[in-house]
Amino acid sequence: MGILSRRVKSSSPVNRKPNETMRLIVTTFLGVVLGFFIGVSFPALSLTKLNIPSSLLPTIQISYTDDTNSGLSSQIKDLSSAKNSNSNSNQDQHLNDTSKIWATSNPKGAERLPPGIVAATSDFYPRRLWGKPSEDLISQPKYLVTFTVGYDQKMNIDTAVKKFSDNFTILLFHYDGRTTEWDEFEWSKRAIHVSVHKQTKWWYAKRFLHPNIVAPYDYIFIWDEDLGVEHFDAEEYIKLVRKHGLEISQPGLEPNKGLTWQMTKRRGDREVHKETTEKPGWCTDPHLPPCAGFVEIMAPVFSRDAWRCVWHMIQNDLVHGWGLDFALRKCVEPAHEKIGVVDSQWIVHQTVPSLGNQGESADGKAPWQGVRERCKKEWTMFQSRFANAEKAYFESQGIGPSSITAH
Ligand SMILES: *[C@@H]1O[C@H](CO)[C@@H](O)[C@H](O)[C@H]1NC(C)=O
Ligand SMILES: *[C@@H]1O[C@H](CO)[C@@H](O)[C@H](O)[C@H]1NC(C)=O
Repeated sequence: MGILSRRVKSSSPVNRKPNETMRLIVTTFLGVVLGFFIGVSFPALSLTKLNIPSSLLPTIQISYTDDTNSGLSSQIKDLSSAKNSNSNSNQDQHLNDTSKIWATSNPKGAERLPPGIVAATSDFYPRRLWGKPSEDLISQPKYLVTFTVGYDQKMNIDTAVKKFSDNFTILLFHYDGRTTEWDEFEWSKRAIHVSVHKQTKWWYAKRFLHPNIVAPYDYIFIWDEDLGVEHFDAEEYIKLVRKHGLEISQPGLEPNKGLTWQMTKRRGDREVHKETTEKPGWCTDPHLPPCAGFVEIMAPVFSRDAWRCVWHMIQNDLVHGWGLDFALRKCVEPAHEKIGVVDSQWIVHQTVPSLGNQGESADGKAPWQGVRERCKKEWTMFQSRFANAEKAYFESQGIGPSSITAH
């Protein structure tokens, strides 16, 4: 009995997969029969010699508890009840079993691995196929810039990319399927190219910029393709963002005419601004969008931590990102200090309706109209989802709507 109990305890596979049920039933039946005929005469027979996985023991107990005459059965019963006393959850079972790994400090789902082997994050650093892995990486850029591009904008992108030093990983999302053509540019060979037809910047960002994948990058630029960068230098921009503690930012915009929001308009007299005044009645609170805590979605720059939050906020089905700009403030605290516009490194929004024209014409409307309508619809959907989620959270916490502030 002593031998038996030690063996059973020292090996305890815990998770039983559904597709093992059949095997389980068969083995259980065998166990019962063998237990009856053999158990009485050989009480100390090792279970392992019968090839019965010890994980089956609780089941055997359930199906055979009545037979108190069977030696094996009663032994199993003792063992099973000992096991059951601490089988409340996967984790509990591992607490005492020192022969198996259960590292709660590992990422969820990877607890069975020794922490030393866990690689929880990754990067976009290309490696060689030969040589020592430790000598692969000549440089490890600390910043990431992504452009969502069509080949028609190649000259603009070529100019833009040249404003980003070797400290940047360049990642292009191609919405028109044309990738190899870009190799005419020297920098294209060290860039990462992701090609999926007719998707939007936020669709790509959700799929390919998971926070664990972009973990080595201090700052992440997620930019449109139609930005004029003549007055922009990325290294200088990063210096200012660090200096002013901006977790979410964008360069100031020129020209001033035709801009939707005062907030993102470039100020000629300063490095950075974090608030603005809008048209009368537009801002209920000077610390809230569109007067503060707000940048637009065409050229945002995120710190690593801010992106980790924003990524989670992006909805898989809302691809245009409308409304996201107004919600960014939910990811940093206090938003009116950590979100801002860099004025001394500024860009020109050229408004090339590139992806907008990739829509489908329907009901006699131009392709861009269908896209525009969906953009607006998505904005409404995003707003109501966010509001409902907040309401549900506070209700679940027993906090009534009256005590929820507008912030
Ligand atoms: C296993 O751990 C639980 C608490 O973590 C304890 O109550 C129980 O006695 C332990 N069982 C064994 C067999 O060590
Ligand atoms: C790249 O980053 C390093 C470290 O921050 C800095 O010293 C260097 O000047 C940067 N390179 C360029 C081209 O700015």
